Amino acid sequence: MTKTLEKTQVFQNYINGKWEKSETGKTFVSVNPANQEDVIGHFPLSSKNDLKRAVDAAHAAFYNWKHTPAPERAEIILKAGYILESRKEEIARDMVREMGKVIKEARGDVQEAIDMAKYAAGEGRRLMGMTVPSELRNKFAMAIRQPIGVCGIITPWNFPVAIPSWKIFPALVAGNTVVFKPASDTPLVALKFVEILNEAGLPPGVLNYITGSGSEVGMPLVEDPRVGAISITASTETGRKVASKCGELMKRISCELGGKNAICVMEDADIDLAVDGALWGAFGTAGQRCTATSRVILHEKIYKQFTEKFVARVKSLKIGDGMDPSVDVGPVVSKGQLATVHEYVEIGKKEGAKLLSGGNILTDGDFAKGCFHEPTVFGDVKPEMRIAQEEIFGPVTALIPVKDFEQAMEVANGTQYGLSLSMYTKDVNRAFKAIEDLESGLVYVNAPTIGAEIQLPFGGVKQTGNGHREAGISAIDQFTEWKSVYIDYSGVLQRAQIDNYEGEKE
Ligand code: UN1
Repeated sequence: MTKTLEKTQVFQNYINGKWEKSETGKTFVSVNPANQEDVIGHFPLSSKNDLKRAVDAAHAAFYNWKHTPAPERAEIILKAGYILESRKEEIARDMVREMGKVIKEARGDVQEAIDMAKYAAGEGRRLMGMTVPSELRNKFAMAIRQPIGVCGIITPWNFPVAIPSWKIFPALVAGNTVVFKPASDTPLVALKFVEILNEAGLPPGVLNYITGSGSEVGMPLVEDPRVGAISITASTETGRKVASKCGELMKRISCELGGKNAICVMEDADIDLAVDGALWGAFGTAGQRCTATSRVILHEKIYKQFTEKFVARVKSLKIGDGMDPSVDVGPVVSKGQLATVHEYVEIGKKEGAKLLSGGNILTDGDFAKGCFHEPTVFGDVKPEMRIAQEEIFGPVTALIPVKDFEQAMEVANGTQYGLSLSMYTKDVNRAFKAIEDLESGLVYVNAPTIGAEIQLPFGGVKQTGNGHREAGISAIDQFTEWKSVYIDYSGVLQRAQIDNYEGEKE
């Protein structure tokens, strides 16, 4: 399918087991951020009506999928994992071309989905419920998990295979059907992901893929009364809108939103290790991770030493097309993103932070065709500055000096976000204090803020999320409803809380 489509470079939606055009006949274009003249393809600018039909299909497929034994559903997920494995290089290369991350990281992104497939497939033979004692004789009490129904999955461009896998594999294994709306910057790799799941044997209608705008596809998906749950990874602003709507509609919503992650480096830390960590955390994926290290909080005693080493390393980073294996930092995803990143650089300068490295959009030669921004470091940043408070989502990091451990903790916790925080120290007492008191869903000790593994819950506190976690065992909670079941085999009416207290004095 993809081969023929690739020739024409016009792609379609996948609804009810068939590739089909949008009724609008309109398309949008996906281009390579390293060279915007390189067109990846045209994708449907779908309408509300297209979306409705995708939900119709998912709704109709639900009953049969729900009643397919979970181990059988899991076999399909596992098979998809193996197909992903066999197509890892191809999809990684498409990913570099479509959103710019460097090839090693693109392979990691696909690997994360392979890991998730294997993990989620295991859930097909678990999906643990609970049995508990009843307070009455001859009565059995248990709770079972049931699928919610049609799930709307809305994903970002920065982990265009991994993040859909965190959501879609657990949703399917738990017996839900899915309408998947990927980010408009990465429709091709999302399409391949869907193609693989269908090749693995999903029945028609179980997974539907539809591209288009937030207003024509995203919001109507959220609002459709037949959609029982939404799982979205986006900015806090978008998440808030979607969650408000879901609140009004009493609909399950799990949000994975912004971050302002920090590495804290104490005076007793291994400084070279911390420099390695900050470099990877801040500039991996050109800083376009929810988990990116956009602040480095440094004990004043090592501030100078760390800064010198760090800035020297940042200056030696190679920028370019992520397809070149010697490149460290690729482009940002789009011209719009490039403008946002650069605006923050200007804000940082105006706020009085010291520009220690980078700061420019690259325009020389071939760079002009892409969306390249120099890796940028600000020094002497004050915790209240906007560049230390707001999510930038690009290759910019802020070095913040502090006087001691307590102040480092306060600064680390002093933003509206709470996704990933890290503490570099050799002192075990401080490490445990940090684990206990850092206000974030992920805490790292002597490792950077990025690089979570799929077998643990992923998500954040405060404005980063709304209490749900992806991946790990918690992913199943996102996509199931509890049903509590009581079986009375006494043959008489037994009244809980009453009959068993009958002998009590008034
Ligand atoms: C994200 O940026 O939204 O922990 C996800 C990490 C990756 C996932 C990041 N495994 O950095």
